[in-house]
Amino acid sequence: MIAFIAEPHPGIVCWIHWLNRVRTSMTNKLTNKLRFGLIGTGRIGPVHAETLAFRVPEAQLVAIADPRTEVAQKLADRCNNPRIINTGEELIADPNIDAVVICSPTDMHADMVVAAAKAGKHIFCEKPVSLSLKEIDRAIAAVEAAGVKLQVGFNRRFDSNFLRVRQAVESGEIGTPNLFHIVSRDPFPPPLTYLRPSGGIFLDMMVHDFDMSRFLMGEEVDEIYATGAVMIDPGFAKEDDFDTAVAILRFKSGAIGTIDNSRKSTFGYDQRVEILGSKGKIAADNRYANQVVVSGEKCVYQDLPYNFFMQRYTDSFTAEVQAFTKAVLEDKPTPVTGADSRMPVVMALAAGKSVKEHRPVKLSEITA
Ligand SMILES: NC(=O)c1ccc[n+]([C@@H]2O[C@H](COP(=O)([O-])OP(=O)(O)OC[C@H]3O[C@@H](n4cnc5c(N)ncnc54)[C@H](O)[C@@H]3O)[C@@H](O)[C@H]2O)c1
Repeated sequence: MIAFIAEPHPGIVCWIHWLNRVRTSMTNKLTNKLRFGLIGTGRIGPVHAETLAFRVPEAQLVAIADPRTEVAQKLADRCNNPRIINTGEELIADPNIDAVVICSPTDMHADMVVAAAKAGKHIFCEKPVSLSLKEIDRAIAAVEAAGVKLQVGFNRRFDSNFLRVRQAVESGEIGTPNLFHIVSRDPFPPPLTYLRPSGGIFLDMMVHDFDMSRFLMGEEVDEIYATGAVMIDPGFAKEDDFDTAVAILRFKSGAIGTIDNSRKSTFGYDQRVEILGSKGKIAADNRYANQVVVSGEKCVYQDLPYNFFMQRYTDSFTAEVQAFTKAVLEDKPTPVTGADSRMPVVMALAAGKSVKEHRPVKLSEITA
């Protein structure tokens, strides 16, 4: 049975790929839906569960796994009653599931990707796949050997404002990009217990912005100089982490840019991008629940932007899962590949090294 072949001989790899394609297309013909299992019901799990249950007609959420079964049950109650399973590992072994969405803590992702690939499941995995390049490579190799699809949750690529920024760069509308800026600040910090397994600010938070820098500019970064500070909660220092950080990027073309991150922005989720090119600039501002501007006797003002990722990026979370489902059903490449999952981690490791060594670090220095 394909599900239990550990390391297939290269000669039979193409058979495995073919069998997995037949299996998915048979499932699709029988039910007309891709059967999903969701792993982890913490902060991001419910976002994807609701997308699968209500916003992707070609998807069916059939099972949810979390050791916190009472939390999973509450989520199941509002998402068309998928089955509850104790752990992601058990869910992956279920033959009635075609694709898994991995939303467990980061340090579990790589093992789950490998197990899911060996079980012939298509995989949507939250970012990052691992904090270790060796582990990411192991996961990508398992996916390639099994011939299943892998998409990683860099959802910001699917945001309509940022897609417009990408279009302006790609089409030459703003000329040659010279300067690039991302502001990316959370409204409040996560619990301190979240920090260690997350890998810290560069691997957990700025990793999104590193992905966006490659995606929006359409080119790779050559060198990073980063610095960090603890300005919000001294608990971050005890966890060997920062709550405030800046990275300066030098792209291969010579263009330069900055990313600034904070774990606390008192006015809401601060998510902005600006690129200055030889023919103009393009900027994406924060998103608001309404566009109303109030003009009074002393000032002109508007309500706060969306408070956090669940509200701000709802559309992009939906679009990324729709794109994944389509890629599986139509047997096309996923829009965010295993290779796309690796480079932002290389960049985050370079940023970490830069802070430690107080110097700019070339990405070519990061080999493992
Ligand atoms: N794309 C985004 O914008 C975004 C946003 C938030 C989190 N994330 C990523 O999603 C992942 C999860 O983050 P979170 O904030 O939801 O974490 P969380 O700690 O809130 O949730 C993790 C959940 O996984 C469960 N879990 C633990 N072991 C399990 C197992 N063996 N099987 C099944 N479930 C298990 C936990 O009980 C918990 O409910 C992280 O990798 C994070 O980087 C991405």
